[in-house]
Amino acid sequence: MSQIAPDPVRAEYARLSYQYDRRWSFYVSRSVEETLRRVSVQPSDRVLDIGCGTGALLRSLRQRHPRIELTGVDASAEMLAIAAEKLGQGARLCLASAQRLPVRDEVFDLVISTSALHYFRDPTRALAEMKRVVRPQGRIAITDWCRDFWTGRLLDRLLCRFNAAHYRAYTLAQCAEMLQRAGLHPELLERYKIDWLWGLMTVVAVKTPA
Ligand SMILES: C[S@@+](CC[C@H](N)C(=O)[O-])C[C@H]1O[C@@H](n2cnc3c(N)ncnc32)[C@H](O)[C@@H]1O
Repeated sequence: MSQIAPDPVRAEYARLSYQYDRRWSFYVSRSVEETLRRVSVQPSDRVLDIGCGTGALLRSLRQRHPRIELTGVDASAEMLAIAAEKLGQGARLCLASAQRLPVRDEVFDLVISTSALHYFRDPTRALAEMKRVVRPQGRIAITDWCRDFWTGRLLDRLLCRFNAAHYRAYTLAQCAEMLQRAGLHPELLERYKIDWLWGLMTVVAVKTPA
């Protein structure tokens, strides 16, 4: 199991899963909505959601495009169980690490990840995996809260100190640089607030043929 994700992340979400949708409803609905406003999704797309959690983004995509092909990956069995209840047969769900996706090369048109990047112990490896599984000219969209706002910097410092599941938060520039180093080409870079506390960033990058 240690290959799936570090124990603290799995322990955190085993504990949080039952209250996640209720407790984080505002944050999740706004972050999903803001992400989907910034990336164009076609009804025929094959979409992979990494760190899909309880399936909010997948469900939103299913409502918009009933025939879309959806896959979700998460390290927490408890979060996936809730996603499975919500989505039924509407998505393929896999217990796996972002750093080791159980997926063939170049099968997805779009790879999305919302609010999971700050947990990844090896973000370089996770981005290399995203690049591997997306098709040429396919897109990768990442949203997370960020260090560009004082609230995000404070939260990052507190969580680094007191929350074993947390790894690190990034600025928009750091995130864009990681994507570029992975050989991806950012075409949209935005940071924005959804309330006084949460400052988010969304980066959409394209995989151009080597
Ligand atoms: C804050 S939740 C976000 C869930 C969902 N994307 C959303 O927007 O509501 C973070 C999720 O990332 C997952 N996660 C963290 N590290 C992971 C990793 N290395 N591989 C796969 N999933 C991971 C957690 O299990 C958790 O479900």
